[in-house]
Amino acid sequence: MEYTELLERAKAASEKAYAPYSKFKVGACVLTENEKVYTGCNFENSSFGLTICAERNAIGSAVADGELKIKAIAIYSPNTKPCYPCGACRQVMSEFVSDSGLDIITEAENGIDIKNFDEIFPEGFRL
Ligand code: THU
Repeated sequence: MEYTELLERAKAASEKAYAPYSKFKVGACVLTENEKVYTGCNFENSSFGLTICAERNAIGSAVADGELKIKAIAIYSPNTKPCYPCGACRQVMSEFVSDSGLDIITEAENGIDIKNFDEIFPEGFRL
């Protein structure tokens, strides 16, 4: 799937975000090695620390479907452009990077921004 389409799906997912506290809506769309696609949005909780980010929500759906190799993830928020993943989500992503790497796709003010995962998360924790 084209990265522009992946970003469109992340955008659609962001509209479903449940973010009554921060008002910061995020959508994510994962593309796996088997060309499967999963979306997720952030969902918050009265107990703030229980909030789940859009990226981890999308990755969880991929994992639940047996897809463990992610080659791209698009992230979109109407609030911030570009919207890069938080540190916790980067650590979670590091577990599922495909053999050919992982592209991080976001919408910048002047078009699509594509970064290599290694560029934004060097020396991640591993057991
Ligand atoms: N959020 C995400 O969904 N992804 C990130 O990478 C960073 C933050 C959400 C969590 C919370 O609902 C809102 O954005 C504000 O932090």
